[in-house]
Amino acid sequence: MADEARLRDCYELVRAGQEVDDPGVPADSYRRFRSWWKHGWAGNPQQIWLAAAASGALLGCYVLALPERENRANGFLSPVVAPSARRRGVGSALVAHAAEQAALAGRTLLMSQARVGAPGHAFAEVIGARPGLTEVRRVLDIGPALHARLPALRAEADPHAAGYTLRRWVGITPDELAGPVCALHSAMADAPHDAAFEPLAWDADRLLAEERRAVAEGARVYSVAALQDATGAAAGMTQVFIDPDVAGWGFQGLTAVTREHRGHRLGLLVKVAMLEWLAAAEPGLCQIMTGNAAANTHMISVNEKLAHRVTDYFQSFEMDVAAAGKLAVRQ
Ligand SMILES: CC(C)(COP(=O)(O)OP(=O)(O)OC[C@H]1O[C@@H](n2cnc3c(N)ncnc32)[C@H](O)[C@@H]1OP(=O)(O)O)[C@@H](O)C(=O)NCCC(=O)NCCS
Repeated sequence: MADEARLRDCYELVRAGQEVDDPGVPADSYRRFRSWWKHGWAGNPQQIWLAAAASGALLGCYVLALPERENRANGFLSPVVAPSARRRGVGSALVAHAAEQAALAGRTLLMSQARVGAPGHAFAEVIGARPGLTEVRRVLDIGPALHARLPALRAEADPHAAGYTLRRWVGITPDELAGPVCALHSAMADAPHDAAFEPLAWDADRLLAEERRAVAEGARVYSVAALQDATGAAAGMTQVFIDPDVAGWGFQGLTAVTREHRGHRLGLLVKVAMLEWLAAAEPGLCQIMTGNAAANTHMISVNEKLAHRVTDYFQSFEMDVAAAGKLAVRQ
């Protein structure tokens, strides 16, 4: 959809629902939303469809990602209905329509996610979607209390991490680290995920395209990696995204340690180093938001050491395309 005005309408529609759908966190900036809806993630093609009233007013819209490299049997669906048009069957009609498009693209499963307690969660249950993994959102408050704890955490990690050196950069990954950083992205395959979800395989072209997109959307992307002195391998890494249009907030990106380097407190070390860095580089930063599968005990124990607090739970859902296509559509 090249029509910028319509994309803006979709954004306003999503924002209008924010207070019930996801209160307590800032809305995405338009830049970020536009980038996601226009370009998708990891180079996956996607479709956007709008539902309008006879008057032309926008009632709802959805984005349906139809990946071509991995997840070729899946469609990732994000439907949203204007708050004033809810409970009139628009959401069901969007899902049924998306199922048709997914079937045309040879998909058999629709996947989505909803915040526990939000309208989308009740809706997903009612239409018969199957619940999958639970994801927990945590927020880390940045301030003197956190900074006072960092030296002790650094002292805890350092002795275990002998033989590793930290390296950091802003924006695009330096050329010589692209391969090892791809290995770290691919290590996300080890994190708990829904059985039907195929983790992504990363290569330098895919990495560069994603990083360029983030930079083009105006994000400041901070990365800290732990490199093994003996081999130069990038053993662990963490990233934080700052959206200049969302004051005070940072967004946790990847944190991963490759399998052969686990057990050296590198996850804690890179996160502590990141927070030390951001204290100077982003003095306006007040909170960092992160999400982990509830079953991801290793990552969560690092986050708990840093005193992240739980704010929300999200539930993934999946539904067979055949069943979604049969949802009753009200006239
Ligand atoms: C989820 C969403 C798309 C539903 O849109 P909608 O147009 O209200 O959905 P429908 O009218 O087709 O609802 C179908 C049924 O779902 C259930 N349902 C929908 N919203 C509900 C709510 N807030 N509480 C309880 N049940 C709800 C009802 O049983 C409803 O039928 P009924 O109104 O006859 O009782 C809308 O709430 C929304 O945009 N939420 C934000 C984005 C989101 O969470 N998307 C879904 C991700 S899985």
